[in-house]
Amino acid sequence: MNKIDVVLGMQWGDEGKGKVVDVLTPRYQAVARFQGGPNAGHTLIFDGEKYVLHTIPSGIFRDGSVNVIGGGVVIDPVILAAEIAKLEAAGVEVREKLWVSKRAHLILPTHRMLDAASEAAKGASKIGSTLKGIGPTYMDKTGRNGLRVGDIVSSHFAERYGALKSKHEGLLSQYKDFTYDIAEYEREWMAGIETLRSLRLIEGEVEVNAMLDRGVKMLAEGAQGSMLDVDFGTYPFVTSSTTLCAGVCTGLGVAPRRIGNVYGIFKAYCTRVGSGPFPTELFDADGQKMRDVGLEYGSTTGRPRRCGWLDMVALKYAVMMNGTTGLIMMKGDVLNDFETLKVCVGYKVGGETLDYFPFETNEEITPIYKEFAGWRTDIGGVRRYEDFPREFKAYVEFIEAETGVPVSIISVGPDREETVIR
Ligand code: GDP
Ligand code: IMO
Ligand code: MG
Repeated sequence: MNKIDVVLGMQWGDEGKGKVVDVLTPRYQAVARFQGGPNAGHTLIFDGEKYVLHTIPSGIFRDGSVNVIGGGVVIDPVILAAEIAKLEAAGVEVREKLWVSKRAHLILPTHRMLDAASEAAKGASKIGSTLKGIGPTYMDKTGRNGLRVGDIVSSHFAERYGALKSKHEGLLSQYKDFTYDIAEYEREWMAGIETLRSLRLIEGEVEVNAMLDRGVKMLAEGAQGSMLDVDFGTYPFVTSSTTLCAGVCTGLGVAPRRIGNVYGIFKAYCTRVGSGPFPTELFDADGQKMRDVGLEYGSTTGRPRRCGWLDMVALKYAVMMNGTTGLIMMKGDVLNDFETLKVCVGYKVGGETLDYFPFETNEEITPIYKEFAGWRTDIGGVRRYEDFPREFKAYVEFIEAETGVPVSIISVGPDREETVIR
């Protein structure tokens, strides 16, 4: 049986999924996003150019590829139209290569307002959402109120849009101090709907399964990361979708036995944007150095990312939840200049020592660290595993031994070319 391979984030997002999908696409004919929405920001760098994708799969730059936005994704037509326009302006052919599932839900302008109002009302306990309307849109999906891409061709679309918008206005009126004006955004949104109408809208699950049956090599591209999963992440400081491998089945409509290789991407350290537990977070010069060298600022919001040491407890949890078959390590080059590196191998929670990721993530967690000697040399130019310094290999091989999963690709810089495939 021809299976679909998966690339997904093992940490709190921004692991480098865009780059990896771009590196892997020569092996695939189709790439599909299965969850999330424009809260994602996936960066690709090649031929001296940088592109950030939010809704469109990272296979779009490869000639002849098919790029599917699956039914599990939530779409803001304004952001999608802007993405298409930007790619087209850069000379990338988009329309032939982009297929959109009719089952994908639409993010309304009022969903964005509800996201903002909810966050403002939470004050200090806010999620730190990207304010793209993700949570409210998934709430309407599971609450069975949502509008879907397939609805835009209905003669009742305007009516249904109006009904959902006025429902949202009712909700927004509960937030006494929240004022908003969506008039301008709504105009752009309607123009975005026209763009969406001009795209190839598909029965996603039928087309995806038919492609797999025909032997098409397909890659599913995750957004966010395993620790932001709505069920198993650091709830409530998570996103609102299934970021784990299971989301490929629900988001694309493929059966569990159709899942092939699961590539789990992680940084050689950890980052997180927004609020919520981050056991290995650093507040010192080491954390600042990671942020400065790794350019750790959000691709979608520009917010500084919180930085910390690699968390093996969380990584092993993500391996377990995803059935990861191959690991891909990113940004080891950011640690070039560290004398000593630390990896968290256990948690102390309430006097107990744990070697697993617990329910009590919102309690005080003290990481237990194992130290490693740094490699103190620039690995950016390395292209063969044998050429890495001994200390670097010891770091990689420790991760393999702990997780029981091979590290099959190592990225040593943001460019497509800065990649070591073992
Ligand atoms: P994504 O959301 O998982 O696609 O990741 P982002 O694009 O949000 O963030 C990853 C950032 O790291 C981007 O700026 C990439 O260009 C950059 N990057 C990816 N791989 C590497 C690497 O191996 N080394 C360095 N220094 N930067 C990298
Ligand atoms: P990519 O695909 C990193 C975080 C937000 C916030 C929480 C909820 O680029 O890795 P949401 O807007 O989803 O309601 O925000 O999730 N978050 C991400 N963090 N990378 C992402 O995507 C993220 N998408 C959402 O910062 O803490
Ligand atoms: Mg990102």
